[in-house]
Amino acid sequence: MNRVALTGIKPTGPPHIGNYLGMIKPALELARDHQALYFLADYHALTTVKNRDRLIQLTYEVAAAWVALGLNPEQVMFYRQSDIIEVFELTWILDCFTAKGMLNRAHAYKAVVDENLQAGRDPDKQINMGLYSYPVLMAADILLYGSHVVPVGLDQKQHLEMTRDIAMAFNKNYGDILVLPEASIKEEVMTIPGTDGRKMSASYNNTLPVFAPPAKLRKRVMRIVTDSKRPEDPKDPESCNVFAIFRHFAPPDTVESTRQKYIQGGLAYGEIKGELFELLDSTFGSAREKYNELLADRDEIDRILMKGAEEARAIAKPIIERVRQAVGVAK
Ligand code: TRP
Repeated sequence: MNRVALTGIKPTGPPHIGNYLGMIKPALELARDHQALYFLADYHALTTVKNRDRLIQLTYEVAAAWVALGLNPEQVMFYRQSDIIEVFELTWILDCFTAKGMLNRAHAYKAVVDENLQAGRDPDKQINMGLYSYPVLMAADILLYGSHVVPVGLDQKQHLEMTRDIAMAFNKNYGDILVLPEASIKEEVMTIPGTDGRKMSASYNNTLPVFAPPAKLRKRVMRIVTDSKRPEDPKDPESCNVFAIFRHFAPPDTVESTRQKYIQGGLAYGEIKGELFELLDSTFGSAREKYNELLADRDEIDRILMKGAEEARAIAKPIIERVRQAVGVAK
């Protein structure tokens, strides 16, 4: 049988180039030779998104984005986390095998605690149980389907380690029931710079959004920070933010010839930025159209996600049944 690749996508906004290279593209590649289950982690988003319309809108946006960028719903089981209720049953069971001390060390939770302490506030201020037990729901997402490989960003590495720890604690008690998953992390594309040279991230407001209208995208590209070398000066491709993005989209021989032009001098930053814009526009132009079409047809997105949920549930059912039997709530 095919190995299972699974990942969750938290609906927090439309994707940028960093998300695409670091996560979306590798996940779609993995889907070619794995049984892929990719889902919208809407209940994870609920830890922070408390506005109903916004959660709905974000969920459709992210669903449309993945399909527009090439996720084939005939090949990938694409579903909403919240449609598979078995995951919440498994969450409780796993809760009973999760060390509280481990959750105390979870990065996302700890960051808020540390911020509170720094500011002299109650350490628990603004922290809900959803944020605290976030890693357990994520472990259930993964373990419910017998996942072998989980394509994620570097920021999720700790969550995958916790998932393995929880699964091992369960298996130690009941035998080999849960599959231990491996994270698949593309470290080399995790450091795509944003327009200001820091890591591209929505929270820095330095992104190149994949589906931005061309005029906006061009503006963003032109804003990418460079040093102040003149057109005729030799330049260093390796430290250039424009080149760091360009190299992922241009064909290999163009990357090489552009590298030479940097080193020799004579290439203006304005010129290479123009080329980068053209490349991005031609790479994502038709996906952008598809995205806008899909977003305007929520029924179509619902159909895709319901079909995915049915298929995913068929995988989850026997696994949750085995877990129930193992713990002694089913015969
Ligand atoms: N926590 C992940 C993120 O913030 C999203 C997620 C939820 C996930 N459940 C998952 C990722 C299961 C991989 C597997 O990006």
